[in-house]
Amino acid sequence: MPEFKRGKGFADIFEPESTVFSFMEKTARRVFSSYGFAELRTPVMEQTELFARGIGTETDVVQKEMYTFPDKKGRSMTLRPEATAGVMRAYIEANCHARESVTKLFTYGPMFRYERPQKGRMRQFHQLNCECIGASEPQADAELILMLMTFLGEIGLADLSLQLNSLGCKECRPRYHQALKAFLDALNPEDLCEDCRRRKDTNPLRVLDCKVPSCKAVTEDAPRILDYNCPACRDHFRAVLDVLEKSGMPYTINHRLVRGLDYYNRTTFEVVTETIGAQGTVAGGGRYDGLVRQLGGPDVPGVGFAAGMERLALMVDQAGGVPGITPPDFYLAVLDEAALTDAVVIAQRLREAGKRGEVSFAAKSLKSQMRQASKTGARKCLLLGGNELAANAIAVKDMESGDQETVPLEALLVKI
Ligand code: HAM
Repeated sequence: MPEFKRGKGFADIFEPESTVFSFMEKTARRVFSSYGFAELRTPVMEQTELFARGIGTETDVVQKEMYTFPDKKGRSMTLRPEATAGVMRAYIEANCHARESVTKLFTYGPMFRYERPQKGRMRQFHQLNCECIGASEPQADAELILMLMTFLGEIGLADLSLQLNSLGCKECRPRYHQALKAFLDALNPEDLCEDCRRRKDTNPLRVLDCKVPSCKAVTEDAPRILDYNCPACRDHFRAVLDVLEKSGMPYTINHRLVRGLDYYNRTTFEVVTETIGAQGTVAGGGRYDGLVRQLGGPDVPGVGFAAGMERLALMVDQAGGVPGITPPDFYLAVLDEAALTDAVVIAQRLREAGKRGEVSFAAKSLKSQMRQASKTGARKCLLLGGNELAANAIAVKDMESGDQETVPLEALLVKI
């Protein structure tokens, strides 16, 4: 047993998983920047109050899932459970509003939520996150959704369902709250889980988000929020759907889609798959028009989303991994320890000439080095020992055909 172990719900991401992560990051940067998004990196820790006020004190995230602790001066700090609140804090602090009417920011990195770990659900996980701040037009929501779907396509994913709903605005949502609360009050309280009995009074929308089967069943016929949208919210949602339809982007309306965070209004959306188990929501987002103001900034609208990289990675793996990874050009096996210095020098020249490969250290048997060579996937295995060195030559073995020849060192580049 090792003396130190990583925490439950925390992962060490080795190859080939780390290659999948960097492939997603690279693709995200390329796709998002082609829509005018600029990269922002924010701290992983913020004042607790930012999340409480931004995400909502009645959400599961704030109630149960935050890593919160006092710093050395007794201030309450929290490891970010999501990126949006921190991005808004940065936007306000840098006064972006004064420089441009629309600010598009993209960020990625680790987030922390104290949840019960399972496949696709970690305590430290990674999000790719986009925020478009300053645009109130429904076409901005639609373009953001198209960008997300484009990105998912570019990393090779299919079998995805895009689901949408509209949560209305501060004018029409209270009417829906009332109707939903009346519906929930009329239920037998025993049919709701303990959390939902509380949510019913503090934040009835959350009940629709509950994953407990009995709560789901008894709310099957709950009033639908779209029926309570005011004309302005209805027009907004219609315009979002228009863009999606004209672009040929399939979607479904999900009346239960209320999202787990409190800052949303109007458009909300999630991208869901059934191919990776119970935790099948790979991305989610929506509009949050009052959020910047609520955090002490100007009254600007916004819309954004985050995609969970661990869940995407599961899908990328199923889809056959990262496309187009080229195997290394060489593996340099060292047949005798005295050849090691020259081996490193030769390998360095090859890399300077654009070749990729590695030297075998700790010269072991030829057999184990050949095994290692084929494990790396190298096209050629180079063999260097005392005899080769004396002849100023090196043996080159083609890993596919098994053919081997000895070539003068100066001719090596041509051979690999
Ligand atoms: P969220 O729905 O809480 O939204 O998280 C977005 C995505 O992060 C989820 O769909 C899921 O893929 C991934 N995720 C969440 N929790 C975990 C976990 N414990 N383990 C693995 N993956 C997880 C937000 O965070 C919003 N800030 C999105 C947003 C941005 N809305 C507007 N702008």
